[in-house]
This record gives sequence, structure tokens and C-alpha cells, in this order.
Amino acid sequence: MNELETLVAKAKQQFGECTNPADLENAKALYLGKSGEITALLKSLAQLSVEEKKAKGALINQAKQEIESALQSRREHLSNVELNRQLASEALDVTLPGRVRHRGGLHPVSLTLSRIEAIFRSMGFDVAQGPEIETDWFNFTALNTPADHPARSMHDTFYVEGGNLLRTHTSPMQIRYAMDHVQHHQDALKSGQRIPEIRVIAPGRTYRVDSDATHSPMFHQCEGLWLGENISFKDLKVVFTEFCKTFFETEDLKLRFRPSFFPFTEPSAEIDIQFSSGPLAGRWLEVAGSGQVHPQVVKNMGLDPENYIGFAFGMGPDRLTMLRYGVNDLRLFFDGDMRFLHQFN
Ligand code: DAH
Repeated sequence: MNELETLVAKAKQQFGECTNPADLENAKALYLGKSGEITALLKSLAQLSVEEKKAKGALINQAKQEIESALQSRREHLSNVELNRQLASEALDVTLPGRVRHRGGLHPVSLTLSRIEAIFRSMGFDVAQGPEIETDWFNFTALNTPADHPARSMHDTFYVEGGNLLRTHTSPMQIRYAMDHVQHHQDALKSGQRIPEIRVIAPGRTYRVDSDATHSPMFHQCEGLWLGENISFKDLKVVFTEFCKTFFETEDLKLRFRPSFFPFTEPSAEIDIQFSSGPLAGRWLEVAGSGQVHPQVVKNMGLDPENYIGFAFGMGPDRLTMLRYGVNDLRLFFDGDMRFLHQFN
């Protein structure tokens, strides 16, 4: 093998060892670059005679072409390898099952809460939110339930550090909302003017140490409060009856106000409803506690019970959801089972 043949063979071998385009271009420079071996040979022609130039030049050019075509075919090979790699890595398996996008939906209790809010808003009620971690004062004392009151035993709950607790009902929102209202109108109050009445509901989560088919340690309540110059039990009956008929979308429904006791109302009543048709027909079902706001509670709000009077109620949105949809176990609401939840959307 002469010198040129050896050079061509060496270039071919080197190109063949390159496994990526960058290496290949570096290898190319060794032969065809500015200071490559072929370039050097071509430069050296300058010293030769015209005859020799012709002969040697032709040979060098042939070697150069061979190297260029070896380079080109290696380039093509490498780019095919890359393409095949890409095709393999991006391949679609058309036999896989399709990806379905499920539509999300609202939880049945959320659906109930929005219904409750919409209905009460339509009757002129504001909707308020409050903290789930409450102080003892808002949850009990301000609601006329001092530390030694027996009613506290029905409200066993979870305490956090510092003596605060997970609220056992939404009733503390009566106090919070009324105190804000009083604060807002304190100038008017001081100068002896009447301040606007309070008409609010406060839905939210509540907590008790309780767990069975109809009790969950976390459950929902919705508080209602209407305080004004002359708001009476009659107004409570009208408002609550109207609410139930709209909520359950039926006129075939009776309400019963059954005397009861709550420390923060006097008199107090449990509200029961009875459907005259459907699967629950004829049964009395308890849906809320209620009563005329106790004078001491009105005082604790910062108002004079001689001038401000009204009613409050606390109902169970979980219970209302069970009645509306015919669900018999409260725990289904909190299990997160899609088969159950899908049915509401
Ligand atoms: N907070 C009471 C409970 O959880 C329910 C209740 C009763 C709320 C009477 C009221 C009310 O506002 O007037 O058992």
C-alpha cells in the first residue's frame, strides 16, 4: 500500500469508530481541515514541477474524494441510528387503552351547602364563615354555657394546645358575626340610634368525639341568626318552613317545633319535618335545633336584649343531604368512594 492508500484506510477506520456526529466532525478535521493531512499534501504540491503536480495532484484528489465519501456515508449512518433511536423511544403503543378524562364534580354535601346558601340569600341573609379552631369563650361561655354547665358534656371535642378547641357547633358564629356588626355600628349605638338588623347564616365544619352510622367526628352545620327590633318565633316558623319547601322542592311537607333545651335559646325547639309522600312518608325527622336567642347571649354580643330580639337555628347539612338523596349511612360522605360520589354529578 502506498502512502495515500494508507491514509485513506486510516481515515475510513477512524470514521467507522466514531459513534456520534461531534466525534465524526473532529475526525474529519484531521484529514480535510485547515491543518488536516490531505490539506497539507495539497499544499505541498506547490513545490513540484508542472508534470509532477498533474500526476500527484490527481492521486491526492482521488484520495480526498474517497475520504469525503466515507465521511458522508458515516454521517448518514449516524443520523439513521439517531432517527431510529428517536422513533423507538417515541413509539406509540396503539393497543393501550385510551386515557379518559373524567369530569370532576361537587361533593353531595357541597351541593347541599350551595343550595342552603342560595335559598337563604334569596331571603336576604348574609353568608358568613368562621374559624374551626375556636376559643372556649366563643364556643361555650358566650353562648351561656359556663364551664360547669352539664350541656358541655354533650359537646366533647378535640382540644389543641393553649386551651382552644375544634368547634362543636357553628353557634359561636352567632357571637362573632354579631360582635363584628356591633363594632361596625358602635358610633350609632353609642348615640342611642338603632342599628341595622342582623340576618345571617354560617355554614361550616364542626367536630365532636362521636362516630357511628349517623355521627362522624367531623360533620357540617349551618347556623342561622336573625336579630332585630321585633323578630319572633313566628318569623322562625315562616323562614324555616319556606326553606324546607324550597330545599326539598315540595309543598307536601309539615314542620313540627318540639320543645327542647339549649343554653343559648329560651324558649328552644327541635325542628322536625314530615313528608307526606315518598319513601320517608309519615316519619318525623329531626333537622335542626332552634329558639329565641337568650337575653344573656344578646348581652354577650354587645346588644341590649330590651331592644334586640330574634331567633337562631342550627341545622345539619349532612342530614339534609341524606334525606334529599336517600343516603342511609353518613360515613359514605367521607369515605371518598368514587362509585358513591359519581352518582351526584
Ligand atoms: N348548636 C346546637 C347544637 O349543635 C344547635 C342549635 C340549637 C343552634 C339551637 C342554634 C339554636 O342556633 O338556636 O346542638
